[in-house]
Amino acid sequence: MKLWDGRFQKEQDEVADSFNTSLPFDIRLFKQDIRGSSVHAQMLCKCGILTADECNAIVNELNIISADIASGKLSIDDSEDVHMFIEAELTRRIGEAGKKLHTARSRNDQVATDFKLYIADIYNEIEDKLKSLISLLLDLAQKHINHYMPAFTHMQKAQPITLGHYLCAYAEMFSRDVSRLQDNKRRCLSYCPLGSGALAGTTHPIDREFTAKSLGFDAPCLNSLDGVSDRDFAIEFNFFGAMLGMHMSRLAEELITFASDEYRFMTLDDAYSTGSSIMPQKKNPDMAELIRGKSGRLYGNLMALLTVMKGLPLAYNKDMQEDKESVFDTTDTLLACLNVLEPMLATTVFNIETMEKSAAGGYTNATDLADYLVKKGVPFRTAHHICGRLTALAISKNCRLDELTIQELKNFSDAFDNDVYQAISLKKMVDARLSVGGPSPTEVEKTIAAIRAKLK
Ligand code: ARG
Repeated sequence: MKLWDGRFQKEQDEVADSFNTSLPFDIRLFKQDIRGSSVHAQMLCKCGILTADECNAIVNELNIISADIASGKLSIDDSEDVHMFIEAELTRRIGEAGKKLHTARSRNDQVATDFKLYIADIYNEIEDKLKSLISLLLDLAQKHINHYMPAFTHMQKAQPITLGHYLCAYAEMFSRDVSRLQDNKRRCLSYCPLGSGALAGTTHPIDREFTAKSLGFDAPCLNSLDGVSDRDFAIEFNFFGAMLGMHMSRLAEELITFASDEYRFMTLDDAYSTGSSIMPQKKNPDMAELIRGKSGRLYGNLMALLTVMKGLPLAYNKDMQEDKESVFDTTDTLLACLNVLEPMLATTVFNIETMEKSAAGGYTNATDLADYLVKKGVPFRTAHHICGRLTALAISKNCRLDELTIQELKNFSDAFDNDVYQAISLKKMVDARLSVGGPSPTEVEKTIAAIRAKLK
């Protein structure tokens, strides 16, 4: 028996029925569905469409149904979707009043509303987790504001920075994810579809302002066709997930690389590592690799939903039922990654001495050697060439630039003096990088404060 079976002469085919149902996955929307239905009932009562008794009976029983689903007392049946399931159960429990709940509403505006409420709830959960991850990164940055490490371009050592400066780069990256999430909420989730009906609103005297405000939206959406057929909010959620996943995968990749025996910049905690079934010595960064790898499904979820929506005519089409699983998968994937990334990072040991040694090697002071000459009046391009030659000399002697004698330096330019050694020391090179956003502790302090302020 279907709630819509009036015009049908035959039962639905069983295979077709199970192909059609979304209840096994959209049951995840039950809390939002019940929130939406309760507010809808209150609005119908306010507008004189339901009596106060009917409204109370509906709202009270919906709360009990919600608790019963949450506790497992009420399990799913063969209903077509979560909306039909809850409405049928309500009517089974309270009779006639239950049958009035769907007045001036369609599943089309109902599902769009439920889904927006769901994504808003998930955004809040992810926002908290992201803020806590950023705050960890900033605490670590503060702690390591004076600890040197090399920075790379093309995976080749480039110039010295500090670990604090490095960690702030990820804090800034993730703070853009927070800002993107807030933008998405504002742009996509502030307008309530409820009251759009099937697609053309309703002749009943409803109060859309009331339902919108009561459900936490700013206002009703402005066009009923768009209201039921818009899934931009879900696509933007999947895009948000793809971008955040990409950011997490970059951090994961560096944890993997820097924890390797070739670098030994970091040591991952045993609790976030695994062993090998054959090689007894192995300690593998599986968690970081999974975070890196999960960006694949996050991109897939975005592409899947964009493709479902492409070319869809107005207004609702059943294709849109395909919107749920990609959003649920993005939700689960993001939460799982964030849940493991933060404690993994918190327990990672940074091998300060190894990083400092590495920062001092690899000719990372060649730019500063050239800049030294520039400050003595040598044109930059000339200075660049001289320092290139000096680097070749140091390589042939298997020594560092600051191990060349003053005479060796002077052979290439008269502008060199004894103060050059201080100018190309790690401390000087980092401390003097005072340009905005640079690695000097003074600047990193400011970055930390600015990111903290943004997150307030
Ligand atoms: N389960 C459906 C979905 O998720 C609900 C909306 C169904 N509307 C309809 N007219 N068949 O999209």
